[in-house]
Amino acid sequence: MRRHRAALALLTAVLLPLGACVLLVPQARVPPQPQAVAAVAPTDLGVATALHGQAAERVIAQVRGSTPMTQVAADVLSGTGRVTALRLVNQALAADASDTAAPAVTDLGQVVLQPDGSAVVVLGVGTSGDGSASGPVVRLPSATVLPLLTATGVRLRELAMTRASSTAIVTASATPTPAPTAQAPAPTPAAQPTTPAATTPPAAVAAPAAPAAPDCAVAPCIALTFDDGPGTYTAALLDALAAKGAPATFFLVGRNIAKYPEVVAREVAEGHAVGNHTWDHAWLTKISPEDVGSQLDQTSAAIQAAAGVSTTLVRPPYGASDEASLAVLASRGDAAICWSVDTEDWKNRDAAVTTQRALEGAAPGAIILMHDIHESTLAAIPGIIDGLRAAGYTLVTVPQLLGTTTPGQVYRHG
Ligand code: NI
Repeated sequence: MRRHRAALALLTAVLLPLGACVLLVPQARVPPQPQAVAAVAPTDLGVATALHGQAAERVIAQVRGSTPMTQVAADVLSGTGRVTALRLVNQALAADASDTAAPAVTDLGQVVLQPDGSAVVVLGVGTSGDGSASGPVVRLPSATVLPLLTATGVRLRELAMTRASSTAIVTASATPTPAPTAQAPAPTPAAQPTTPAATTPPAAVAAPAAPAAPDCAVAPCIALTFDDGPGTYTAALLDALAAKGAPATFFLVGRNIAKYPEVVAREVAEGHAVGNHTWDHAWLTKISPEDVGSQLDQTSAAIQAAAGVSTTLVRPPYGASDEASLAVLASRGDAAICWSVDTEDWKNRDAAVTTQRALEGAAPGAIILMHDIHESTLAAIPGIIDGLRAAGYTLVTVPQLLGTTTPGQVYRHG
């Protein structure tokens, strides 16, 4: 997150304010080129941030899917977190080693996130044939481990804590890091202390069990929606959502997808929903039915190319639709998803005002409109999530809120 903050500060200094929703009115019509997805400069900040997220994507997909979680190379611990963890592990081992001076451990081995929020560090020689870990173990309490995690680690820890199983679900190989205080030469694994903590080594990976989807017929649900991205702030927004374990729905502008395909892939991989916001933010009521279809087709193709999913959710720019455009949506199987709460974040550019509007508009079934192209919206998100949850709401995606939608119908709330 520190990197993100620094990057945001830099971008804030150098970028002109990004256009609000209404300022993204079509400029010169550029032929859509979704196949340009691969032509992204590796120095692009968004791509660099998203690549960081791809590891998370793989891990979360495995947590949610059926792939056994063994030896996944995720950066669960931050750089400083690894240093701190090494120090804590060495302190614990030294305490257990009584009068024998133990050589300093320099490799954390595996870090296994537990359902109680703690983490077990498994030292030594990795896993046995059946995937179970072996070697001395040290448990880091829940409150201790939390500050050591990356945003990915936080998300995975929350997933671990939602599991009903009492066994560990995530086994991540931690990158070896030189021990900052090591006085002795780096030991071989065989030379490491053999006194384990009084903790049972984490055994096999738990059977996969995706968290149950909330039942909006019972719980008061609200859907957070973000339009006009992906953009500069979207990857950081995904980090913020992951830190809170909050799902959202992103309505994507097709021409932006080519700049941030990894971000779109990450949105899907992390359990968010995506929808179609046209190729270049066109007024569906001011273009021909053929152009409406083309706008939606090109964007759907870009979403498919970036994230491998299709969507039947369309958010008409400006919330504007008419009989002719809705007929096009109906013919494609698409529904128009509008909103019941407009935070006007594009206009106020103020996190406090955006938060106030979101919380004051909250009601069961609400669909809250925001935009992930504004830094002020990014800043507002943690407070909005906390405020809605404190008021008893369950955050869901639009598909979770609405269930199966009717083609050509306009939805404004659940
Ligand atoms: Ni928009």
